[in-house]
Amino acid sequence: MGTARHVKHAVVTGAAGFIGSHLVESLLRQGVTVLGVDRRSPGDNAIAAENLGGVLGHPGFRLVQGDLVTDELKPWVDGADTVFHLAAVPGVRPSWGDTFGEYLACNVLATQRLLNTCVSLGVERLVLASSSSVYGDCTGPLREDGVTAPQSPYGVTKLAAERLALAYALAPDSPISVVALRYFTVYGPRQRPDMAIGRMLRGVLTGTPLHLYGDGHQRRDFTFVADAVAATVAAATAEATAEAVNVGGGDSVSVLDVLRRVGEITGAEVPVLDGAYQPGDVQVTEADLTKARTVLGYRPSVTLTEGIEHHWKWLSARTPTADSPVTVTE
Ligand code: NAD
Ligand code: UGA
Repeated sequence: MGTARHVKHAVVTGAAGFIGSHLVESLLRQGVTVLGVDRRSPGDNAIAAENLGGVLGHPGFRLVQGDLVTDELKPWVDGADTVFHLAAVPGVRPSWGDTFGEYLACNVLATQRLLNTCVSLGVERLVLASSSSVYGDCTGPLREDGVTAPQSPYGVTKLAAERLALAYALAPDSPISVVALRYFTVYGPRQRPDMAIGRMLRGVLTGTPLHLYGDGHQRRDFTFVADAVAATVAAATAEATAEAVNVGGGDSVSVLDVLRRVGEITGAEVPVLDGAYQPGDVQVTEADLTKARTVLGYRPSVTLTEGIEHHWKWLSARTPTADSPVTVTE
């Protein structure tokens, strides 16, 4: 994409997370200096330690441990030309009930506090991690100008965060432009331990069965993490004022089909137990990627089978420790 923007100093919120840590690695490789913000730190959290293992000590990287809901944000954001806001409490299924206050605070209030701070400091671009869960169910490829009808409390908070960010960008005389990326079920090395593909692969390694929610015919547009990161980096320099853009893997595949592929790739059957349908789980996600191509120049480059092979290679080469994500209580 032709653009005058150039990222020199970025803030990445959620830097110790799955997608955030891959994004930090990519930005550092491109010579961007990065301040990572996360409430988890490698000193007190095994997942953060593993996720950030490749970047701690890099001269272009600094990590601050802090909470976007309560801490003073100006010292962290000051001097940044671009903010990548990935911090959130993720996960569709656990968002019902008493956890909602945490989802609301971390996904909505924290986003509003960050936007306020960015605007007061004149930050030029905020790239926001939104989610396919803002849509609800679908009968065909989902377009960004289609209906948003989230089916989980989590999806409601992600839609609220997205709308807030777009409203800040569209306010009169706003200094900030926003690209909200609707990621579709991201997988790959260091995937969150609650998610399906990592659970299947760990099931093969450890014998821990996957609880299959529902009949397995539900479909997802699974997206390899390197593709999600490529779209995220492109969003920083894309010509845009206030846009929501899908980021999918290019194919909508059933959970049963993924189980079959995992079996072929690993040479072993995934142990599976029947699990109940989980409220909030949509039946199908499928991304229309026309806008992603136009705005971001994005095309997914990793097929699902290739991506699962990468994920498997990474997982099977790790040395599990007692508190590492391989053995995390699920
Ligand atoms: P993750 O849980 O691995 O990373 C999120 C990080 O945010 C964590 O390290 C967490 O400690 C941090 N965080 C949460 N609340 C915070 C707060 N108040 N202050 C500071 N840090 C805080 O999740 P992920 O899978 O990497 O997801 C990253 C983003 O992408 C999230 O916004 C999520 O909603 C979105 N998303 C993810 C997927 C996916 O498939 N993984 C799909 C769609 C959207
Ligand atoms: C994922 C992320 O977890 C959300 O944070 C994100 O917002 C969402 O993608 C999105 O695209 O917006 P999900 O699609 O539920 O959510 O991803 P997985 O946890 O990998 O689940 C994929 C499918 O496998 C779901 O249908 C789920 O019901 C099923 N599943 C998952 C199981 O059957 N068993 C499990 O143990 C885990």
